[in-house]
Amino acid sequence: MGNINASVDLRRDGRIAIVTTDNPPVNALKHEVRAGLAEALGQVRDDDDVEAVVIACAGRTFFAGADITEFGRPPQAPSLGEFIAAIETMPKPVVAALHGTALGGGFELALACHFRVAAAGARVGLPEVRLGLLPGAGGTQRLPRLVGPEKALKMIVTGEPIGAVEALADGVVDEIAAGDLTGSAIAFARRVVADRRPLRRVRDRDDKLVAEGFADAAAALTRRLRGREAPAACVEAVRNAMILPFDEGLKRESELFQKLVAGDQSKAQRHVFFAEREAAKVPGIPMGTKPRALANGAVIGAGTMGGGIAMCFANAGIPVTLIETSNDLLQKGLDRIAANYRATVARGGLAGDEMDRRLGQITGAVGIDAVGDADVVIEAVFEEMALKKRVFADLDRVAKPGALLATNTSTLDVDEIAGSTSRPQDVVGTHFFSPANVMRLLEIVRGAKSGPDAVVTALTLARLLGKVPAVVGVCYGFVGNRMLARRSVEAERLLLEGASPQEVESAHVEFGLPMGPFAMMDLAGLDVGWLIRKSRGEHAVIEDALCEAGHFGQKTGIGYFRYQAGSRAAIPDPEVERIILDTAARLGVTRRKIGPEEIIERTVFPMINEGARILEDGIATRPGDIDVIWVYGYGWPVWRGGPMYYADRLGLPHLRDRLTFYAERSGDQSLRPAALISRLAAENRGFATF
Ligand code: CAA
Ligand code: NAI
Repeated sequence: MGNINASVDLRRDGRIAIVTTDNPPVNALKHEVRAGLAEALGQVRDDDDVEAVVIACAGRTFFAGADITEFGRPPQAPSLGEFIAAIETMPKPVVAALHGTALGGGFELALACHFRVAAAGARVGLPEVRLGLLPGAGGTQRLPRLVGPEKALKMIVTGEPIGAVEALADGVVDEIAAGDLTGSAIAFARRVVADRRPLRRVRDRDDKLVAEGFADAAAALTRRLRGREAPAACVEAVRNAMILPFDEGLKRESELFQKLVAGDQSKAQRHVFFAEREAAKVPGIPMGTKPRALANGAVIGAGTMGGGIAMCFANAGIPVTLIETSNDLLQKGLDRIAANYRATVARGGLAGDEMDRRLGQITGAVGIDAVGDADVVIEAVFEEMALKKRVFADLDRVAKPGALLATNTSTLDVDEIAGSTSRPQDVVGTHFFSPANVMRLLEIVRGAKSGPDAVVTALTLARLLGKVPAVVGVCYGFVGNRMLARRSVEAERLLLEGASPQEVESAHVEFGLPMGPFAMMDLAGLDVGWLIRKSRGEHAVIEDALCEAGHFGQKTGIGYFRYQAGSRAAIPDPEVERIILDTAARLGVTRRKIGPEEIIERTVFPMINEGARILEDGIATRPGDIDVIWVYGYGWPVWRGGPMYYADRLGLPHLRDRLTFYAERSGDQSLRPAALISRLAAENRGFATF
């Protein structure tokens, strides 16, 4: 009894043994934990004074899964699978006491226990698919036996956890603790002993293994997961639970896991997992810097972005005031928000009363004085510097001292905007991505004078709103759009040289992006870029011609593609083809057939090149931050790990050589490899070592 090792403790309460793990922050099942648990279990197995065992965790959560940092390293016994088998074959009852998030291997461990007691707020799930994996410690065999294959597959393929109440209803947990969790689990164990309840091994159950409806459910769940290996493996493993004996199903699950964990996709997804967490760590912030209050907010401008941002607040349960210049515009904005929510309710994504609760968080107002005592104000008015400066000068006058003042500008100089106030230390950029209530990325723009606590407050806000933050510096387009601009230039060149919009589109979709550059521009509105180009004296020959012909994208039913009313399906348009051919002829460009490989190289490599310059300029801190921006802001396929990670996989010497080739062929010197790429390539290093 007592400390087994630094992470695991064994104590007794009467004849009940309690094994408690304390491995902050999330009780990952690292080797020391597994070894300690195995040792503790061995001791109590042979101890006649112990009648039952409770497995619990200290700190904020039950085991949140295997230790992801150990993947790819040589395995160390006992494996999680071995330890889990030892639990299941214990001759005395083992009760898991679940709190926080019992995830992955942690939940699989609990499934092998004979009984499960959960705290009211506990959540259980198998999120391995998000790491490009399947549950590799029996989850695909045990969960279907408890909840049926269809529900198990849904949990495994989506990775979405369920709460304690649902878990109780599904028979996944046996009891929800009324008060103290460990105390309840001990009392439960005593009752099991007193009632002489038989040990319930999930592996022995097959009453729920009904195949009906499984194939359809599998097809529906995996339809939109193009390109990913893990979901198909999840389906195969769960199907095995129905057709193979338990031990064979387990063996097959383990083989599938080993294959996935060694594969490129899981490596890429694990990179993104850690990059996302790293991105929230900002250099130069003094230790212990505290965020300011964030109890209520105000959003200025009820347009496309302002409305979406107000919804983010409402979704997070933070009251928000939405401010416009007139009652008419305000009502339009509020109506659009209500329509958005109604559409979600109609799709079954939100309960009606929840919609009402969220709408109740949004108060409309006219005039900037309504910011009142808001802790955070986000400005989302038109993209015009003079207007933004006026709004910030007004905010300086009316916002309460210490309020975080944020601009949602997508291109303008945050320092210049901050300069129109007497409190630039309170000003940051919060660059949401459209649609703001859906896209997970938040680029936090740190101005030259943004205070460390303002940055920390913006990071906290991101977390409260369920966003993934990346802190970036001030430059035109920040990180994401600055790279995107490079892609747009090349995409247009491809059209001139012979590719059709649909060829460019399908090459990108095939690569794994949700849409290609032209469908994306059609969605955002071609007129937006046209206005910006005009104000900067820039040109995009084909896009300018399209705009002059009234092709503004989906909003006018025609852009690079044609759209039928009420549909987002992009249809090739002969008039666009004609405009491209005319422009190419006018410029004397000889057209040729261009294959998908060249299309991807020509659009993606210049973006990576710009990413390298962004690192050189210190606008992004780490290559991983850029990857996070592309995965969460633009739908870059997570299984390719983000553009900078992708570049490392290809090898920087290859990237350098191809960029040099395209620069020489086109004469465009901006395509020359960035100094950082040349240097890293010469040293045979990758961005990962930056
Ligand atoms: N292994 C190693 N480290 C982990 C980890 C894990 N499973 N889960 C989280 N961490 C680390 C994070 O990297 C982070 O480290 P830093 O503080 O150094 O950045 C720290 O723990 C805290 O994590 P979060 O910032 O994410 O904390 P949170 O409170 O926001 O979220 C969480 C907690 C919900 C548990 C979240 O961390 C999470 O989803 N973790 C991953 C869970 C998971 O995928 N489990 C399955 C693992 S694979 C598996 O188990 C395979 C199998 O079948 C055997
Ligand atoms: P929008 O034109 O849809 O909305 C702007 C709204 O601001 C309008 O409703 C207008 O009436 C209102 N407004 C103007 N002056 C105001 C004032 N003084 N007080 C209160 N309201 C005022 O524009 P959108 O697309 O929402 O863009 C807003 C900001 O977000 C811009 O800075 C834009 O660059 C940025 N952005 C836009 C993205 C997009 O995809 N649309 C993406 C990311 C950022």
